[in-house]
Amino acid sequence: MEVPPEHVERNAPPAVVVIFGASGDLTKRKLVPALESLARSKRLPDSFAVVGVARTPMSDEEFRAKVLDAGGSVRPQLTDGYRYLAGSYDDPDTYRRLAGLLDELDAGRGTARNRVFYLSTPPEAFGPIVVGLGSAGLNRPAGGFSRVLIEKPYGSDERTAVELDATVHAHFDEQQVFRIDHYLGKDTVQNVLALRFANAVFEPIWNRTWVDHVQITVAETLGVGTRGSFYEGAGATRDILQNHVLQVLALALMEPPTSFAAEAVRNEKVKLLQAIRLPTTDAIDRIAVRGQYTRGGTRDELMAGYRDEPGVDPLSRTETYAALRLDVDNWRWAGVPFYLRTGKRLPSRVTEVALQFQRPPHLPIAAGQASELDADALVLRIQPDEGITLRFGAKVPGHSFRVRTASMQFSYGESFPEESPEAYERLLLDSLVGDPTLFIRSDEVRQCWRIIDPVIQHWANDLKRIPTYEAGSWGPDEADRLIERDGRAWRN
Ligand code: BG6
Repeated sequence: MEVPPEHVERNAPPAVVVIFGASGDLTKRKLVPALESLARSKRLPDSFAVVGVARTPMSDEEFRAKVLDAGGSVRPQLTDGYRYLAGSYDDPDTYRRLAGLLDELDAGRGTARNRVFYLSTPPEAFGPIVVGLGSAGLNRPAGGFSRVLIEKPYGSDERTAVELDATVHAHFDEQQVFRIDHYLGKDTVQNVLALRFANAVFEPIWNRTWVDHVQITVAETLGVGTRGSFYEGAGATRDILQNHVLQVLALALMEPPTSFAAEAVRNEKVKLLQAIRLPTTDAIDRIAVRGQYTRGGTRDELMAGYRDEPGVDPLSRTETYAALRLDVDNWRWAGVPFYLRTGKRLPSRVTEVALQFQRPPHLPIAAGQASELDADALVLRIQPDEGITLRFGAKVPGHSFRVRTASMQFSYGESFPEESPEAYERLLLDSLVGDPTLFIRSDEVRQCWRIIDPVIQHWANDLKRIPTYEAGSWGPDEADRLIERDGRAWRN
């Protein structure tokens, strides 16, 4: 049996992290703070360096000042380890100079020819960077390791994902490829595995006999902000459903793996994704709903409509909300519907997985005494207020026998004094120690596109008016109808 990754020492070896797209937002907001935090907690060795690569000309000092929160309260750790290289991604000279710089760092800082290349650029650059690295021999350093971390989106449909894979695999073995979905780096997402497989009480009821249906929600209050021009080509389905929601779904529904070793877990995820019934064209209008936010909010806090956001086409047909019902054709889940939804400019920020259980087969009390009793539910709260809630019926105090829904709460913050690492911190460390468990394998990414592609295709061909919802509301009315048609309702 493969050794589960937790048995391996989780400190990074000497290495260089090369960030492509280093002048972008993610580098400053997430990647550099994650590396700094790893350095502070002594998980990075002294023989460590970070190289930023981007088109904008900058000196090492300017790069350091740009990405480090210089005026902040925490003192940066890696200050003399930051280097910068300006160059265009399709110019072979960029990679020749990078190879020279990496040799210099190996000699001067002892970084041992170990390299992690983080692709945090617009997706058009992924292919050219991989080719550039391969052509300069940076994919196979003698005596060290070379790994490539690729941000989302990985393709924009199955065909383009397969094309990108062909380019990537021409230079890197699949074992060297770490496809990022930052949701997998969240402790609460990994806790889905702990809850299911480190306990005996939940798994026996985790199936069609006890579960009526499941809802997965990724609701955001923010609009598209300054990312309008990127978002126009994505939409909620590609941006969140295809990756974050399907990843959470796979962990929540897969069969128990024999260990938490990378391939054991990823094999089970793929099997589950393959059991999801692919939407057929004639079913899509029944099982999928899209929406776009219009102006909304209160007089004090007016929110612009999507079409008025910077970088957005005033006639845009991009969806900022998507809801989808999926079915899983296997023994565990046959007949149980899965309702997924995500949207921007919804009334609250919440990511959760809610299992709603069957009603009791017979209630031995008068119907009127149970009018405030909902079906039992187990809600895994991914963020914010990380925790788990069990909703169940309890007797209302008093002389009559009335029952009402009550809840039991587990709160991460109250139960554990330990801080959760940021998702990117966990993923960067995993890539440095070579643990691919929380990264998406090639076959997974393709299967996720296969599930989503028919829906996106259908909507692209459908010229009817795109349903709208007011900014600050729970999505278009059509989404309520999608679930109400099955005699169920969204959790609010
Ligand atoms: C990103 C999407 O992948 O995830 C964004 O591109 C979205 O549109 C973000 O806002 C949400 O991440 P989190 O961690 O804030 O839930």
